[in-house]
This record gives sequence, structure tokens and C-alpha cells, in this order.
Amino acid sequence: NTLVLTIEGNQQDQDKIQQAAQVLKEGGTVAFPTETVYGLGANGLDPKAVKKIYEAKGRPSDNPLILHIADKEEIKPLVASIPPVAEKLIEAFWPGPLTIIFEKSSIIPKEVTGGLNTVALRMPSHPIAHWLIKETRLPIAAPSANLSGKPSPTKAEHVIQDLTGRVDIIIEGDPSQIGLESTVVDITTPIPTILRPGGITYEDLQNLLGEVNIDPGILDDLGQQYQPKSPGMKYTHYAPAAPMTMIEGPTKAVVEKINALTKEYQLQGKKVGILATVETKDDYRGDIVLSLGQRDKPQSIASNLFDLLRQFDKEKVDVILAESISSQGIGFAIINRMTKAAGHRIIHVAK
Ligand code: TXA
Ligand code: MG
Repeated sequence: NTLVLTIEGNQQDQDKIQQAAQVLKEGGTVAFPTETVYGLGANGLDPKAVKKIYEAKGRPSDNPLILHIADKEEIKPLVASIPPVAEKLIEAFWPGPLTIIFEKSSIIPKEVTGGLNTVALRMPSHPIAHWLIKETRLPIAAPSANLSGKPSPTKAEHVIQDLTGRVDIIIEGDPSQIGLESTVVDITTPIPTILRPGGITYEDLQNLLGEVNIDPGILDDLGQQYQPKSPGMKYTHYAPAAPMTMIEGPTKAVVEKINALTKEYQLQGKKVGILATVETKDDYRGDIVLSLGQRDKPQSIASNLFDLLRQFDKEKVDVILAESISSQGIGFAIINRMTKAAGHRIIHVAK
């Protein structure tokens, strides 16, 4: 039995926050909004509670979880040390969409880290997430609140669809502002390494830290050959039900290619979904054409992506054709998620 608690417009609804915090303190599970995506939380120091997260999501247990905190004072007991580079990152980007990988302390259960000797920490900026975590006075383990393999939830309705009957409480708030999961950066390597791109961009990190590496798994279109360091990156993620192909190249050539493919698929009797942008959506003859947003507003594209992937599922399209976008700034994270949704099927077209 899942209780849905609605909190309007990020109001500080203390009764509901307390009710949800109580469930977390007693070892239960609570889904809650954050600025990146909705998370599914449990007491990160209680192995039994953490196991409930894996069960609710159907998630492989070697894929480690992020511990979410409300205040800087909570960091110290969770990590072996706080190196200077971590202090810089925290100062610049917390609270916010950045997860930092530290050497872990001994109090972290292996159920959280999947047996690694590191731990992922994040301090969300979303007020509901902040109040809830603060009220529990616990580090809250929280993956994205979707069924494993589905796109991450950016709206309460996505969580309700996936997790009703599988968790104790779902806090229904507004849609997530950023819409992509946090940037994960590993500071246990000599040069900080981005394991997952997100709202804090490569450029942001480079400006602050100088040299920053990108885990080769992120860059490699043929991901399968490479063992990603972030265990979560090796699983098929964000996948809509229909096979998706990304088409990359100059806009005019992309539109032509997508229209040619659309015709072919429609002749085979297939229902074609097209993931377009405001600038191009009227140029397509797909059965379902959805617009991600304006090309020069990549932040709005980021916040729409996962919701649109779920809409294609609802419309039961047979194939999805998606335009690629610029990889600048948050575009890099968007393309990373789209590439995964497409199972690395990418067509490059020339002029
Ligand atoms: O924005 C987010 O990060 C959301 C919200 C709820 O905070 N959470 C989220 O969690 O996306 P999840 O579990 O879906 O993704 C966590 C990622 C996975 O790719 C996991 O493998 C990686 O972080 N990760 C966690 N602990 C790690 C560690 N110790 N070393 C390397 N990667 C780690
Ligand atoms: Mg996830």
C-alpha cells in the first residue's frame, strides 16, 4: 500500500515532511522530488532499508547508491577524508546537481556501495528533498525513483506509474527542474574524472578545477566493449519500449534522413515516433512528432527528454527517430542519455 502525499509548489508542509521522515527513520521507503529527478529514498545506514530500494526498483545489487545529505556537517563521518578538491567542489556546487565520489568510512554498509571502497555523496538543492533529509538526520540512500531500465522520473506521475504498491510513500511535488540525473565526479583518481555527465557541465568543472577527465565509457559510442567505472553506466538505461535511432549531422540533412526513414517504416506498416525540436517539428510526417524544445535552450530540452520518452511508450509507437543536438554545456549530458536510450544506434549524415 503506497501513500501519496501531495505538496503544492515546494511549500514547507511540515506535517507531511514529518510523516515521511518518520517512515524513513523506521526503515521504510519514500520517493521524493529533487531538482534533477525524483529519488527513491531509504535510511542509508540500514542495510535492510537499503535492500527495499533494490527490490522496489528491480535493480541489480552491484549498482551502488548515492547518499543524500542536507548539511555539510554530515559529510565527515561518511568519508575517509575530505580532500581539497572536494572542498572546492562543495563550495562551488552544493547544494545542487553534483555527486562526488569519496573514499568511504567504515560506517557505510556494503549494500550502499555494492562492495566498493568508495561512496557517492550529494546534497540536493530542492527544498522538499532538503527538509525531508534534514528532518531524518540521516544520510538517505536514493537512486532515481523509476523501475530499473525505464527512463528516470521527472514528474510525480512517472513515479506513481512505476512504484505504486512497491514503496511506502510517494511525495508528489512539481516536475524536476533539471530533468537529468546529477553529474557524478570521482575525486579518488589523481585527476578528477566525470563518470556521468549532468547539470554541472564539463566546462563548469574545468573552469573550477583545471584538468578534468571524462570516463571513456561516456564517450565511446560502442559502450559494450568498455568496462565503465560507474557500475550504473553499464546497464541499459533510459530505454523507451520501442527501438530508437539517433540521427546526427547538419540540420537539413538530418530532417531529410528522418523523413526518408519515416516513409520506409510507414510502408512496413509501422507507427513512427519522431523526437524533434521546435525549429524542425513541422517538417516531419511521423505518426507522433514530439518537440524537445528550442535548440538554443538546451536546459528546456534536458527537462523534457525523459517525459517525452515515456510518452512514446504510451503512444505505443513501433520505432523512434531522434534528432541529435549540440553537445555544448548540458548538451553533452542530453546526448549521453539519448545515446543510451537509443542503445547506441546512431546514424551520421553528411551535408
Ligand atoms: O540526480 C541524481 O543523482 C538522482 C537523484 C535522486 O539524486 N539519483 C540517481 O541515482 O540518479 P542512481 O542510483 O540512479 O544513479 C547513481 C549513479 C549510478 O550510475 C551509480 O553506478 C553511480 O552513481 N555510483 C554510485 N556510487 C558510486 C561509486 N561509489 N563509485 C562509482 N559510481 C557510483
Ligand atoms: Mg537511475
